[in-house]
Amino acid sequence: MQSIFDSGAPLDRLADLFRDFGDLIQEASPLYAGLSVQIAGDADLLALAAHARRGQPVQNMLFAAVHDLLLRGVAHPLAAYYPSVTASPVSGDPFPAFQAFCHEYADDIRALLASRRVQTNEVGRCALLLPAFYTVASQSGHLPLILIEVGASAGLNLLWDRYAYDYGTGRLYGSSPLVLTCELRGSVQPPLPDTPPAVSERVGLDLNPIDIRDADAVRWLRALVWPDQPYRMQRLETAIALAQSNPPRLAAGDALAHLPDLLAAPPDTAVCVYHSFVLNQISQENRDQYYNLLAAYSHQRDLYDIALEWIGTPTPEITLRTFRGGDVRETLLAVCEPHGRWLEWRA
Ligand SMILES: C[S@@+](CC[C@H](N)C(=O)[O-])C[C@H]1O[C@@H](n2cnc3c(N)ncnc32)[C@H](O)[C@@H]1O
Repeated sequence: MQSIFDSGAPLDRLADLFRDFGDLIQEASPLYAGLSVQIAGDADLLALAAHARRGQPVQNMLFAAVHDLLLRGVAHPLAAYYPSVTASPVSGDPFPAFQAFCHEYADDIRALLASRRVQTNEVGRCALLLPAFYTVASQSGHLPLILIEVGASAGLNLLWDRYAYDYGTGRLYGSSPLVLTCELRGSVQPPLPDTPPAVSERVGLDLNPIDIRDADAVRWLRALVWPDQPYRMQRLETAIALAQSNPPRLAAGDALAHLPDLLAAPPDTAVCVYHSFVLNQISQENRDQYYNLLAAYSHQRDLYDIALEWIGTPTPEITLRTFRGGDVRETLLAVCEPHGRWLEWRA
């Protein structure tokens, strides 16, 4: 019998993705970890998830679509299991309620899966980027940075110097209503600046820039946060409040097509392109093209690229590529936790 959810996508592969996701996030989000394992065994739910746009992480998409509807205030027994929508969440197995919810709201979920993207804007990553920005500033002889964030989502990570940082060193870097805490691991101390690197310009580029003043788009940002991670939701709210008074500059477009327009910059500046959790949404061929594009442009001027990405390695990596005269030098700066909980500097 054909499922009411059918999109024709291969379900075995999706089952594996949900099972792996469940294993991966067991510690970080027990709610989604438990649901993932059960979704992996449910052909109807897998068929529903298969409606996510091609190239998008289906697990995040299905969970965010359901979460978005709950955040809109849809009244359903499932809400009782979500700490993000109820003050006193119940314990027990949420799966029967999740299944029932997906059946009842299949049309709405499908519409969200087809129209939205995984655009999680995780400000915790700024604690990972700060020492990398400082490294670029040092290498350039402390020229002011031109920061270009590729895949900026709402651009909250362009505003990294509006936040303060606590690396557990007994010292707070910056002063802000938003303090990002990050544990330092390993034996190498990352470079942490007494004063943050100077920035002369900053701009974000995204296929679909999120307008921080658009309530519907901002709810989707919240929906992408895992419901049993209140600390992430809290820092997102604070970052949104800080950004709303003075939003970052964002441009719409594909990185490959539009990045060259942004690279032209005044002399005596250091052009630093950076991206976090973006290249996994881009094909290998386009990733190669992206780096070829930077190499080609570096005949005109030096360029720096900071990649905070997680592709085929046990943990995310922070890699600095320095492009000069068409050549590239690659340095692994650090490994880290995806949302900025810890950083192990390697450079
Ligand atoms: C998972 S989000 C990460 C957002 C942000 N970098 C962060 O770490 O908080 C990935 C972002 O990359 C964008 N993106 C994906 N492919 C892109 C492309 N080819 N050109 C520009 N942006 C892209 C998506 O629209 C999305 O906003």
